[in-house]
Amino acid sequence: MTAVDEIKIGGMGASRRRVEDNRFIRGKGNYIDDVVLPGMLHMEILRSPLAHARIRSIDTSKAWAMPGVRLVLTGETMAARNLAWMPTLSYDTQAVLATDKVRFQGQEVVCVVADDPYIAKDACEAIVVDYEPLPPIVNPMQSLAQGAPLIRDDKENQADNVIYDWEVGDKSGTDRAFAEADVVSKIELFYPRSHPSPLETCGSIADFNRSTSKLTVYLTSQAPHIIRAAVALVAELPEHMIRIIAPDIGGGFGNKVPVYPGYVVSILASILLEKPVKWIEDRTGNLISTGFARDVYLRGELALRKDGKILGVRMNTTADHGAFFSDAQPSKFKIGLMHSAFACYDIPSAHLVARGVYTNKAPGGVAYRCSFRVTEAMFFQERMVQAAADDLGMDQAEFRRINFVRDDDFPHRTPWGFLTDSGQYGKCLDVGLEAIGYQDFLEQKKEAAKRGRLLGIGISTMTEPLGAGNSREYDILGIKMFDSAELKVHMTGKALLRTGAKSQGQGHETTWAQIVAHELGIPAEDIVVEEGDTDTAPFGMGTYASRSTPVAGAAVAMVSRKIRAKARKIAAHLLEISEEDVEWELGRFYVRSQPDRGVTIQECAAAAYSNMPDGMEPGLDNTAYYDPPNLTWPFACYIATVEVDPETGVWDVLRLVAVDDCGVRINPMIVEGQIMGGLTEAYAMANMQFITFDAEGNCIGSNFTDYLLPTSWETPGFELHEVVTPCPHHPIGAKGIGECAAVGGPAAFVNAVIDALKGTGVRNIDMPVFPDRVYEALQTGMDISGAPPVRTDEG
Ligand code: CDP
Repeated sequence: MTAVDEIKIGGMGASRRRVEDNRFIRGKGNYIDDVVLPGMLHMEILRSPLAHARIRSIDTSKAWAMPGVRLVLTGETMAARNLAWMPTLSYDTQAVLATDKVRFQGQEVVCVVADDPYIAKDACEAIVVDYEPLPPIVNPMQSLAQGAPLIRDDKENQADNVIYDWEVGDKSGTDRAFAEADVVSKIELFYPRSHPSPLETCGSIADFNRSTSKLTVYLTSQAPHIIRAAVALVAELPEHMIRIIAPDIGGGFGNKVPVYPGYVVSILASILLEKPVKWIEDRTGNLISTGFARDVYLRGELALRKDGKILGVRMNTTADHGAFFSDAQPSKFKIGLMHSAFACYDIPSAHLVARGVYTNKAPGGVAYRCSFRVTEAMFFQERMVQAAADDLGMDQAEFRRINFVRDDDFPHRTPWGFLTDSGQYGKCLDVGLEAIGYQDFLEQKKEAAKRGRLLGIGISTMTEPLGAGNSREYDILGIKMFDSAELKVHMTGKALLRTGAKSQGQGHETTWAQIVAHELGIPAEDIVVEEGDTDTAPFGMGTYASRSTPVAGAAVAMVSRKIRAKARKIAAHLLEISEEDVEWELGRFYVRSQPDRGVTIQECAAAAYSNMPDGMEPGLDNTAYYDPPNLTWPFACYIATVEVDPETGVWDVLRLVAVDDCGVRINPMIVEGQIMGGLTEAYAMANMQFITFDAEGNCIGSNFTDYLLPTSWETPGFELHEVVTPCPHHPIGAKGIGECAAVGGPAAFVNAVIDALKGTGVRNIDMPVFPDRVYEALQTGMDISGAPPVRTDEG
């Protein structure tokens, strides 16, 4: 007998096909709208058509009179139960149903529960709300202007529209660096709003059973345990009487982390009616009212030495959070990690000023496929780096290389205080430059320019923090950030694994089993993975911020090791030797002096139930809670080449080369899928996706005709490469990967277009880099701002 072949059993490194796809591609997934409970009622939401208005009155009489209507809930009825407002994850409050004012277009005003969704919808239309319009505020400049109307007049002590003013870094050291600089490079940018827009919208089915006092809620949630704690606190229900079940989820991308008013009202309706109440959000509801991302203005400056060394960085950011500050972020990082920027560069001093403001827009600032504000941070960083290289007249690749943290400089303290621990940044850049044929392309670009053709090359390199926590530094509403795994190995050697994470398409059912296979030698196909049911899964913080592999994945390895430790004792008993004489190889314990004499992990499992040593507890199961010592820091290098048509401003991607270092890859195929998906979203952000607001606060981008999702038709091909620098503190050396490409990708595309325009005087075109913006920039030689319009006196 010998060790099992890890790849054959679907262990680490195997490009195992996703087991969950068996049900997904057959249309047999169990999404929230597939769940039908006996006697279930349906809820619809009446939303505000106006961005800012006082509510004079609400007349629900016609709705109540319609046959099939069971309940109509307004802000007033919610207020009577102290539920008109709810706390947000960032210690603000958010209206559940509006009482005094509406503060954004699409805000929830009335909910109707009826026998079917069509009756509920018709009843919503029969409701008359008398609004007194107020001046809408659609961007931070208006919001901060003197005499601007106060958006959050519901809050005591809120005298203006500022949510936070925060600064971090070494101001005087940075000032000195700028005083000593040979060149100061400046840039102003706007990262527009975007929306995670998962294909499945949000929804809930609340089912309160009076006879058992148990509340079961089926919920589109990326973090079911956190929601259970929040429901317990807000609704003042005992936590053990609440069961949250997140069934299959059709994409989350951060959109399914917050608590939404629809969830809360459906729960109250079920308690009042003692019937299951289902709420399924429609597409427009999802796009206009749930968590938006980005919407940040940046002024950045780099202090540069002539030889290319960055001496200091200043960033000044203003984020538009909409009417309620609902951004889910660890309380100790009040601006949501914008100061993770420049972590891959060795910069002596840095200073950041961050401001967040209220506007009359849907609550925004949620992390869309990123850890809090990391996407914006990395985009700004890489746009600033390219502008600086241009200002110095240096090659953009060389400029990066000069400033990279070197391989032997780890652990490295970033200019704003994070600790990075590993990476081979120069090597990743080299692999990328080699793959794209950098020098050849620069030659082609020169030749093409002679014939009036505009070619450009854009680079984006970054390391980003993935895997909150550790518990010392990160918490949500005071709950420390860690994660968990529970493993039960049955008598037959098959196993059931549960974690506190929740997959929304990332393939956890496949990859977690691979980690167990790697640690125990049990074939991955013999392991079932379950997540998302708070009555069965161990407590965990859920899946967002690419934290699953860094935290829950580590817990899976640790619980497997606990199981192996017990199995070793059983093996010693079966082999009739002392534990010290037992050796391990994958799937098998053996006698050190007689390698042929051994027992398999499956034989140990059988003995755990049938032939355990005297005094040992029967069974082979355990739980691990994992509190990581640090974040993981994957590195990425994305290089795009483009051609811009000077006649139309249309730009085509010629090639996109990606080099990702996410440490040890559990499932290379899934990793590649994650990178392709992220690059597709990055391309969409750079090229086509546009949610903006007109001067009245109407959301432009409230459906998929206006807000474009990339399809295979528009999306270019991507060429993927890898470098592996194992994470030194993760039990299997893995770093997160899920969001890297969406975070680092946009700057590669935009940098390439700006590079194609080099020599025209254009330093920036805000995203989306629409052809008309490029055309206008080419005509005027001016930068193009994408900031939303400001209402003028003429209206
Ligand atoms: O938290 P989330 O699942 O969104 O992101 P992640 O932890 O980066 O993982 C995304 C998917 O890639 C999961 O199925 C991981 O197990 C897989 N992965 C991997 O195979 N190897 C890595 N080094 C990182 C992630």
